[in-house]
Amino acid sequence: MDAYWESFTPGEGRRRPRADALSDARRITLNGRWRFRLSPTAAGTGPAFVRAGFDDSRWDEITVPAHWVLEPVTPLAGGPARSLRGTGEGPVYTNTALPVPLDPPLVPTENPTGDYRLVFRVPDDWGAAVLRFQGIDSCAKVWLNGEPLGFSTGSRLPVEFDAPVVPGENVLAVRVHRWSSGTYLEDQDMWWLPGIFRDVEVIERPDGAIDDHFVHADFDHETGLGTLRVEASEPAVVEIPELGVRMAAGQSATVPVEPWSAESPRLYDGTLTGAGETVELRIGFRTVAVVDGTLTVNGRRVLLRGVNRHEHDPDSGRALDHQTMVRDIVLMKQHNINAVRTSHYPPHPDFLRLCDDYGLWVVVECDLETHGFIYAGWEGNPPADTRWLPAMLDRTRRMVERDKNRPSVIIWSLANESWVGENFDALESWVRDRDPSRPIHYERDPSYRNSDFYSLMYPAQELLEQIGRREEPRPEGVSDEEDSRRRTLPFLLCEYAHAMGNGPGSLVDYQRILESSDRFCGAFVWEWIDHGFRHRAGDGEYFMHGGDVAYAPNGGRYCLDGLLFPDRTPSPGLHELKKAIEPVAIEIDTTVSIRNRHDVRGLDHLAFRWRLEVDGERREEGDLPVPPVPPGESAEVPLPARPGGEPGEWWLTVEARLVGDTPWAPAGHVVAWGQGLLADGAPRSRPPRATTPARQADDGLIALGDARFDPVSGGLVRLGSVKVDGPVLDLGRAPIENDRGQGGVNDLASVWRAVGLDRLRHRTDLVEPDGDVLRVAGRAAASAHPHALAYRFDWCHDDGGLRVDVSVDFTGPWADTPHRHLEIVPPRLGLRMSLPAAYARARWFGRGPGESYVDSCAAARVGRYDATVEELQVGYPVPQENGNRLDIRWLELSGPGVPLLRVDGSPTFGFAARRWTSEELGRARHRHELVDSGRLWLNVDHAQQGLGSAACGPALPERYRVPRTSTTWSVRLSLH
Ligand code: GAL
Repeated sequence: MDAYWESFTPGEGRRRPRADALSDARRITLNGRWRFRLSPTAAGTGPAFVRAGFDDSRWDEITVPAHWVLEPVTPLAGGPARSLRGTGEGPVYTNTALPVPLDPPLVPTENPTGDYRLVFRVPDDWGAAVLRFQGIDSCAKVWLNGEPLGFSTGSRLPVEFDAPVVPGENVLAVRVHRWSSGTYLEDQDMWWLPGIFRDVEVIERPDGAIDDHFVHADFDHETGLGTLRVEASEPAVVEIPELGVRMAAGQSATVPVEPWSAESPRLYDGTLTGAGETVELRIGFRTVAVVDGTLTVNGRRVLLRGVNRHEHDPDSGRALDHQTMVRDIVLMKQHNINAVRTSHYPPHPDFLRLCDDYGLWVVVECDLETHGFIYAGWEGNPPADTRWLPAMLDRTRRMVERDKNRPSVIIWSLANESWVGENFDALESWVRDRDPSRPIHYERDPSYRNSDFYSLMYPAQELLEQIGRREEPRPEGVSDEEDSRRRTLPFLLCEYAHAMGNGPGSLVDYQRILESSDRFCGAFVWEWIDHGFRHRAGDGEYFMHGGDVAYAPNGGRYCLDGLLFPDRTPSPGLHELKKAIEPVAIEIDTTVSIRNRHDVRGLDHLAFRWRLEVDGERREEGDLPVPPVPPGESAEVPLPARPGGEPGEWWLTVEARLVGDTPWAPAGHVVAWGQGLLADGAPRSRPPRATTPARQADDGLIALGDARFDPVSGGLVRLGSVKVDGPVLDLGRAPIENDRGQGGVNDLASVWRAVGLDRLRHRTDLVEPDGDVLRVAGRAAASAHPHALAYRFDWCHDDGGLRVDVSVDFTGPWADTPHRHLEIVPPRLGLRMSLPAAYARARWFGRGPGESYVDSCAAARVGRYDATVEELQVGYPVPQENGNRLDIRWLELSGPGVPLLRVDGSPTFGFAARRWTSEELGRARHRHELVDSGRLWLNVDHAQQGLGSAACGPALPERYRVPRTSTTWSVRLSLH
């Protein structure tokens, strides 16, 4: 058997790659239900299935497009539908590791192979036709009416064959191999998902059909003129009625136009008409250029505020429907994102059409990553081996040819994480020759010789600052010449802010740096969406990650690192990103300062509203007139209101809202906002409550007013009628992904576990009534360890409540523990208590409504909020610390049959309330494993460390850690 699937040749019998186009050519979609049979080796079901008369009545049925590993396969012969999901034969996830032995271009004999059959009808009057597959993973051979048409690799790229269809019935047979030589070039960090997963069509090609066309639509920002030239493979006429253009293909016209940009995606509709076909044109005029080390479009610097987007759906994998693509774009636009890197392959072509329509700058990346060769020390890496050049070039051509007419596409990215090699020179020169209008990106080669951008992933803020000042150190192993050239390039941060689990932190910090220098042209958060699959197994439904499949090698939870949860629920990280990158910066001090951070737009599409609140209660509101502010400029507007005489915190909030409806959000949608504290008058005090000295009560407890304490542990056991357990000191949290670091680096969580921060023992040394004060002192420490927290709780009545003044002192070897020499940085310093389960609601004044942490709190405004305990939780697919609220002045907990319990902070505090302990949260592997403990667990924090993004990236900056210094704070509890 000719082992085409493991050859260096990327394909045979295919048509030349060409532009993706909509036209009036007749087409028949072949999407739908196909006959299917899965076999264990590349031999599939054998040679017979290609024949017209083959009996497939006992085969299964499957949907096309789909991945067979996700789709239930329905046996036609009866019996239940089979699903491979959750098995090693199903979807498997690896990060850098290849799922096949490193033996290029060969793959194991065990090579799941799906044979697909479809009978379709073609009208009698059809002429020539082509058969188009938009994506088959990973290698397919195709037969029509028993005759082989060819084969192809390159999963996320289209392939077309001339299709000698016959009038009436035609039989299409496709054999798809899970592993192929292509596997070596597709080692992206993602699930391996075989199958025909994008659309299949037959398209008529009458005489004079336009095979290919190339739109050149430049914009001269100095004259305001656009120049249009459309090249076509056949004689054809270009018509753009709105511009009064009618000319032959190949000619050019220069006319006044409005340019295309992500902010103003102006498109001109037209047609390209040849003898046999009319192709739709949607023209966006724009010119991309790197000028003096700055990326410009239409003569203006642009700053890409982007995300890396994989195609993912929790049910169908990379087979996305149109609505899901629209949903992604709408969510991006609503969250102020203006750019997408299509990591790490060209997306479904419709996605790019939508980017043209809605307005997003796009970096299209080729379907090329050879990361797995790292396990051979990059020995045999395809970019450095000329035998792979045809396959690499084939992928590059198919990308550029398909997407060359999309105005949204402004940069081509040659590959991801494929190290270095001369084949890249050939790719670069081919792209430069074919499409000189777009710059090229490639991150991994430290010489950047094929790239128009200097680019990195996950640098620390300090390095990024150096890059902004053009003072970065020189990468190793590059020549003087390469280094000097690199220093002239704009910098593109292709991945940062790894959004795995709870996080990322520091989005505002990164944005501040990115806006500080013209050298920066943009940044892309890693990544848009968690790749988790909805899965039902014995004990419940959850989102499956790599580690839920028994398969090795395994990338585990690393596929859950997006700003959206797998079902596209925005995470708190996305809200924070929206705030960090908002296109209007509103700062309130003695004036309202408004800075227009748009690249090209003024602010006339926005209306400004203000609101004045005291302690979170609205007092006044109105419209804020703002003068015209050109992009890049600022205006100062007088404060629209002044604080009144009432005591309390007077906050002014100004919002910029859409004036009219847009395709991605209705009028009124808040694009940006700012808040400022105008006055901070003393809080209203409560009437003093009569206090009695601390005393021994009849029930053996110590009484302090209506509070009761255990005489041995000193713990509060009751406040009025409310049974309380605690508070005790709490230093631990359920580790977030970033607490675990990466590959043993920055693995704080294992230090916490090793030194027992999650299992503190409390020893009480003193319980002493002293007049109106009950003094409790003790030591909190983990078994087996010498480091400890010496503490003192002084309880007294104050301002109508029960106040505890806490003082703590870190004693013992926290900085250098014996035996292990570990630096222990506790993630939290605060109090924890449990309350009756009836407490079900929280009201608070502080940051909200969503969760907030010290390095991720810009999106949380100071105000008054209300939520149920359930609503306080954030459903990270892998349970971890979540739901913290920061800068809380007061918190009120309430519920049926229990008095309102109020917590006042001095200073402010952070809180989290949940129905399980942090330890239970840390132990659960999936959300459905979290069960109500029958108590409400309340954390009242003095401090908690930030989130960071150390799951892939730098360590959490020092300033976001909990300082290990002696400290004091107070909290007051009261019943109402
Ligand atoms: C990058 C890579 C991404 C992803 C990320 C970590 O190195 O390009 O594909 O693996 O790290 O999640």
